[in-house]
Amino acid sequence: MASLFWMLLLFAAESGLPPFPVVSPGDPVPQKLYQYTGKGAITYDSVDRIGEFASWRAAVHGRKASVQKDRAGYLNTRYDWAAMRTDAACRMSGGKLIPMGPVTRLPKDAATWDALAKLTPEEIRRRDLFPEGFRPLSHPLHSTGHMLFPESWIKAHPEHRRFDIDHDLGDAFLPEFPPPLYLTTRPDMGDVARGREITLENFREVFDGVLTPEQMEGLRLLVTRFPTSWFNFTKHRVTDEPSRGVACFDCHVNGHTNGALGLDPGTRPQLARVRLDTPSIRGNHVMSLFSLKRSIRTLEHFAEIEEYFDGDIAMQLQVGGRQLDKPSTNRMGDFMSIIGFPPASKLDRLGRLIAARATPAERRGEELFFGKAQCGSCHPAPFYTDNRMHDLRVEEFYTGRAEGWAKTFSLRGIKDSPPYFHDGRLLTLEDTVEFFNLLLGTGMTAAEKQDLAAFLRCL
Ligand code: HEC
Ligand code: HEC
Repeated sequence: MASLFWMLLLFAAESGLPPFPVVSPGDPVPQKLYQYTGKGAITYDSVDRIGEFASWRAAVHGRKASVQKDRAGYLNTRYDWAAMRTDAACRMSGGKLIPMGPVTRLPKDAATWDALAKLTPEEIRRRDLFPEGFRPLSHPLHSTGHMLFPESWIKAHPEHRRFDIDHDLGDAFLPEFPPPLYLTTRPDMGDVARGREITLENFREVFDGVLTPEQMEGLRLLVTRFPTSWFNFTKHRVTDEPSRGVACFDCHVNGHTNGALGLDPGTRPQLARVRLDTPSIRGNHVMSLFSLKRSIRTLEHFAEIEEYFDGDIAMQLQVGGRQLDKPSTNRMGDFMSIIGFPPASKLDRLGRLIAARATPAERRGEELFFGKAQCGSCHPAPFYTDNRMHDLRVEEFYTGRAEGWAKTFSLRGIKDSPPYFHDGRLLTLEDTVEFFNLLLGTGMTAAEKQDLAAFLRCL
């Protein structure tokens, strides 16, 4: 009897979440999408679903201002923008100031971070005390989703401005543009890009005499624009003018990231696909898993399938997309596998701090990382990833759909790629530290949390 009772209760808890609302591309959707679950209606999409271009454009453009206003209001409930600080001594590899926090708002019933961290996950969930900013962050127009570029990129490439929605995070919380590019084969050259954005127009001049012919051809393909869903020559698009599309390096600028968004290609329905902040592809010569959830095993395979079509092979035929043969995707892999991590002058050959070069706070932070804070068990030196996937079970702290398995991203060069976590919900390293302190129940003091963040900036 008792076990039947618990089974029913469990079932009620599972199915207690409401089903996803039924939406078409362009429709406004609830901000807290993590509260919904269920099956969708379609797997394959079609360019015809948007109907006629002029009326599609008029409808979604007409709603842009109100969708963005609602979005800004919601983000204000997650983050206290005024809490962002900078320190002239704390900079990314190319010199941009690192945003420092925490900027996540404490729930109004929690007095301090330390008080919150003393509660159990069950208690935090029952009293609804998990900060909204630690819960999944959706795409600002999730019904359409797809690639969304930040303002720093749009300024240089206005042809990528969408008429339906703008990026929802300020440039202060995004990587520098353009970022430095380091090659594992030519560390002596430092930043090979020398402050420029590598494009189809300049790549040959920059890399002649530096790359092999094989790598050069791979790079050419990485900076060549191809049509994708929503950026192409058909009516199925979100730019005013028909478009040549997007290049791999339009998001992975110089082999790093500009903070452009997308949705997880590996999940359906549309509203269950999580927001993805473009990851850096620096240092992937030491990685054996690619993608947050899809566990893709080689760079060549990744180059072959990437998310141009949101994982929808039917759209590729309809918008006239890339059809690269194996030798081409292999060459793209060949270039991607020589993109290096940024130099870390305070780390030794085993990826640990050189005591004489580090401050006392950084040294205390390292000790915490590999000790009390438990970070090192999933992010071991020298590359600060275990090259595995974990189920972090964040949803034990709030009522929502389970988040599932995720790849452990490397923390080498992590100061260069805010915002953090797959959807960018954690805007600064200090927010990440608060998040994991709560998640892992490590009970760090305020001073220890600062030391840990100082260590992360050395990586
Ligand atoms: C929206 C801009 C965007 C464009 C354009 C783009 N990517 Fe990505 N890239 C992403 C996002 C978002 C992810 C995360 C995907 C995932 O987790 O499944 C990603 C992941 C990757 C990864 C895996 C990184 C890791 O550490 O797991 C590789 C490799 C990669 N992209 C290569 C490419 C290549 C090659 C192209 C061009 C064919 C390309 N990307 C085009 C945004 C982009
Ligand atoms: C149980 C394994 C595990 C432990 C322990 C762990 N992490 Fe992670 N970490 C992950 C995984 C998995 C991800 C990717 C999660 C995602 O994006 O959904 C991640 C992501 C991150 C990110 C964001 C990376 C990015 O590119 O956005 C940072 C920063 C980070 N961890 C720091 C820490 C710190 C600091 C600690 C210790 C306080 C820690 N982690 C402990 C597994 C772990």
